[in-house]
Amino acid sequence: MDDRRPWWRTAVVYEVYLRSFADSDGDGVGDIGGLRSRLPYLVDLGVDAVWITPWYPSPMADGGYDVTDHRDIDPRYGTLADADALLDEAHERGLRVVVDLVANHTSAEHPWFRSALAGGREAPERARYFFRDGRDGGRLPPNDWISAFGGPAWTRVREPDGRPGQWYLHLFAPEQPDLDWDHPAVQEEFDGVVRFWLDRGVDGIRVDAAPAMAKVPGLPDAGHAADATFDSAGWVDNPHWDVDAVHEVFRRWRRTADGYDGDRLLVSEAVVRGPERLSRYVRPDELHTTFNFDYLRAPWDARAIRAAVDGTLAALAPVGAPATWVLSSHDETRHLTRFGRASSGAATMGFDALGAPVDLARGRRRARAAALLTLALPGGAYLYQGEELGLPEVEDLPEDALQDPTWERSGRTARGRDGCRVPLPWSGQGPPYGFGPGDGQPWLPQPPSWRELSVAAQQDDPASTLSLHRSALRLRRELLTDEPLTWLDLGDDVLAFERGAALRCVVNLSARPVPLAGLGRSLLTSEDLGADLPPDTAAWLAPG
Ligand code: NOJ
Repeated sequence: MDDRRPWWRTAVVYEVYLRSFADSDGDGVGDIGGLRSRLPYLVDLGVDAVWITPWYPSPMADGGYDVTDHRDIDPRYGTLADADALLDEAHERGLRVVVDLVANHTSAEHPWFRSALAGGREAPERARYFFRDGRDGGRLPPNDWISAFGGPAWTRVREPDGRPGQWYLHLFAPEQPDLDWDHPAVQEEFDGVVRFWLDRGVDGIRVDAAPAMAKVPGLPDAGHAADATFDSAGWVDNPHWDVDAVHEVFRRWRRTADGYDGDRLLVSEAVVRGPERLSRYVRPDELHTTFNFDYLRAPWDARAIRAAVDGTLAALAPVGAPATWVLSSHDETRHLTRFGRASSGAATMGFDALGAPVDLARGRRRARAAALLTLALPGGAYLYQGEELGLPEVEDLPEDALQDPTWERSGRTARGRDGCRVPLPWSGQGPPYGFGPGDGQPWLPQPPSWRELSVAAQQDDPASTLSLHRSALRLRRELLTDEPLTWLDLGDDVLAFERGAALRCVVNLSARPVPLAGLGRSLLTSEDLGADLPPDTAAWLAPG
């Protein structure tokens, strides 16, 4: 293996949704202490890095993606000293750490935004955000832009004299006002924030909502229909998403990151229209990698998945960036549940077919097969916490427990993303399943059925989903580097490919068994098999 190859080209990164990972102090919210105590688990699992969702001080209007201070840690999660200790301990154990940078917006409680409100229409801080007069004498929003969580992207403020006044832009919740990235103070502030975390020793930065960070000057209407939803993967020439000027921001950060040793990673969250637009985020002078939503959105269908894989590889090759493969995150319906539905593609940010009939046994088989597929593809992969345990979406959270802004913003029609954020089960016979010390219950209730899915329940069971992931990650490390993918033809509804001479992967998405004879020695299979590969299963084979 060529040790000079940057680690992130092939890394498996484990997403830690911090408030749901592990709780060290019994307040029902996961924290840095909890994560530190579980680092051995992650090492044993075999991932290369962790991405930690925002841990900054936040009123938690959007689970921490509403930041009041980008250079500190929310007291619910710990302190900067805890973050430093985590970095040290992770590095000692050979794990890299990626932090989340939320730079499209701040919290409405951020000192800048508070000054912008308190100072009235002449406040200089208003220029760091998008404050505008409304249309129709101020009564209507300045344009037709929409929020990712439903409803208009504008909220009208009450001026210091108590009268309704200007409007401000928020592509997400009203508690998350968008920053104007043309303003030099915004650029300089975030140069400092990027350096702050790189200086502390983080190995990478995940760029939240990357395509939102530039707007067409003049803020023209987007032409959204009255009932439009935030379908950014379908938008062409949209004035508030994937605007070309956004790339200047990433070039700036890349120049900064290049000044540091150790192959620091910049990875974007960018839901844009197709792989070619996506590839622009990872041009040689921009970000290093980007999450792959085409793969995440693909239904359990061989042609659709193959098209996503081919489209990704073809678009990224000219810019020299590796692919990433992602099936789940804290924003998406857990794929085990999605794959158990008749319509198995993903919608966006919790606007999903919750409540559609689901066959969880089928979903589980498919999710296990999908793990072998994902981990055999060339490039890097992201695992969302709990995916390795085979956790399903929790579809029946009581309404009064729901916290995702999508729920209220959609007029209580879309339950949002809480169902994939339920705290992890570690051990024990009932909630809180060892999530924290004592019997205190976590911030979202865990289902009784998770007893069998806890880490302790799966740890020593060779047939468990946890064991499958451990084995796959170990084999991947041993066998795979940067061998290219070559498809094998076993029929249109079977995904079969080899990675050089190292590995063959066969995934059966058809309704009939696929004979494996002659394809190689079995290394790992998603279920116990005979000579054939049954529907919804996958095998890794050693060619020759
Ligand atoms: C993407 C994050 O993953 C999501 O959780 C958040 O709500 C939005 N960006 C806004 O920051």
